[in-house]
Amino acid sequence: MFFCASILLAAFSVPQTSIDVIPKPSHMEVLEGSWTPDKGLGIRYDHRLEAEARGLADWLGQRLDQEVQIVREELRIKLPQEIYLDMLEEEGVPESYTMTIDANRVHILGVGAPGAFYATQTLKQVVAPDGPVVFPHCEIEDEPRFRWRGMHLDVGRHLYPVDDVKNLLTWMAFHKLNTFHWHLTEDQGWRIEIKKYPKLTSVGAFRDSTPPYGERLGSDGERYGGYYTQDEIRSIVAFAANLHITVVPEIDMPGHMLAAIAAYPELGNTDIKDYAPKVSSKWGVHRYTLSPKEETFQWVDDVLEEVCDLFPAEYIHIGGDEAPKHQWKESAFAQSVMKREGLEDENALQSYFLARVSKMLEKRGRKLTGWDEIREGGLAKGATVMVWRGWHNAVEAANQGHDVIMAPTSHTYFDYYQADGKSELAKGPWYECIGGHLILQKVYSLDPVPKELKGTPAAQHILGTQGQLWTEYAKTWEKVEYLAFPRIAALSEVAWTQPKDKDWPDFQKRLKPMLKRYTKAGIRHFDPFR
Ligand code: ACM
Repeated sequence: MFFCASILLAAFSVPQTSIDVIPKPSHMEVLEGSWTPDKGLGIRYDHRLEAEARGLADWLGQRLDQEVQIVREELRIKLPQEIYLDMLEEEGVPESYTMTIDANRVHILGVGAPGAFYATQTLKQVVAPDGPVVFPHCEIEDEPRFRWRGMHLDVGRHLYPVDDVKNLLTWMAFHKLNTFHWHLTEDQGWRIEIKKYPKLTSVGAFRDSTPPYGERLGSDGERYGGYYTQDEIRSIVAFAANLHITVVPEIDMPGHMLAAIAAYPELGNTDIKDYAPKVSSKWGVHRYTLSPKEETFQWVDDVLEEVCDLFPAEYIHIGGDEAPKHQWKESAFAQSVMKREGLEDENALQSYFLARVSKMLEKRGRKLTGWDEIREGGLAKGATVMVWRGWHNAVEAANQGHDVIMAPTSHTYFDYYQADGKSELAKGPWYECIGGHLILQKVYSLDPVPKELKGTPAAQHILGTQGQLWTEYAKTWEKVEYLAFPRIAALSEVAWTQPKDKDWPDFQKRLKPMLKRYTKAGIRHFDPFR
């Protein structure tokens, strides 16, 4: 019975002539022939690749509606049809791999477990999005352009269920993105449980109301809030690690701190007029900043202690963006610190503040990254700059020997409209965005290396790029998906594929089956072909 079914399947399956992988691999050749898995299919794996083997077996099991066995290679069990996952220890370009599909066999050779893992993500895309599972004979060699391939998510303005965050991580991995920048604190809500300071969440995680869609200065009058417990955070970090994604937490300071200051008013500039911090119910930039007092530095150190315990990432993001200087100008205490330390202005005070934070990270073996405002009064030693505004920030920082991550508003702000704003709004208030206009092709066109750095040694300081998901206008996960997909696919090709291999018409062709995959998975994506 089963024999007959396979013959029928083989007879009706159309030979595949192209393979629609995003991001596009460095080298890919489609060969004559293909094979269809049957009950004899199994995955043989190097013992260091058990998680990768299990992940692939789960996915294939669902597609084939059968259990796919995994066996360690030392057992030397002969499988009639096999996917063999093998790896090299440390030779070769990190995260690279080769994959060959020939008669009844897929052979994957990864550089490290990440390389083998990315081969499995390619293999999932080698299989067409629907219809029977067919493995076309092919040879693929692949390696990333950049080491930092990221997505950012703001959970301060709105927060989302743990399972939805994990689903985003799964799709990031599918597109070979390896860094999740988790923006955990905001004026409108503090979202990370800190055991030593319980009011950060009991007070700081809740606001009185939120502007509704279509009424950006209005109030819905409903209390809103919540946070991630340390157990939930650990589960997300572990889930990400299994997908070879590093979670970089952001604790934004000294601005964007109103929720924390509302919870512990003594952290702020208490000696100014009308000091009355309250978790914000409005969007935009707020005046409240941390005060440069010793008690505040102790609080930052304590928070970072718990943050570093939860997140094993090499980098900790300390924000640094949009910290207005009004309160430091007005505060006699802040002015006295400037005098004491010989600081000529408030920008220098910000640098002093962040240099102290940098030392707190350094003593824990971590590196500091922050938005490009951290350059304003002089950059802390060893700091990595995340550039969101002028590209000159990238050029200057790289030329000064600092690493840089490119997150420019012009190409990577996924909270901007991805079609003409008027036509989007005509569909209803749900479609409201913060503004801007960032079409898919513009995301795709990004080259993260500024032209001034091309061909210079400083170009190596550009670590990579990431997409930003600010969420003032994303009340629900469906809206996050609508903003992220398919721009995430275009970004992945910017981050992974060499510029000479990028091709916009070819990307659009490969995107069509990708949209089918999104739809089948229940993702509410934007459709750039409508
Ligand atoms: C930012 O958009 N404030 C980094």
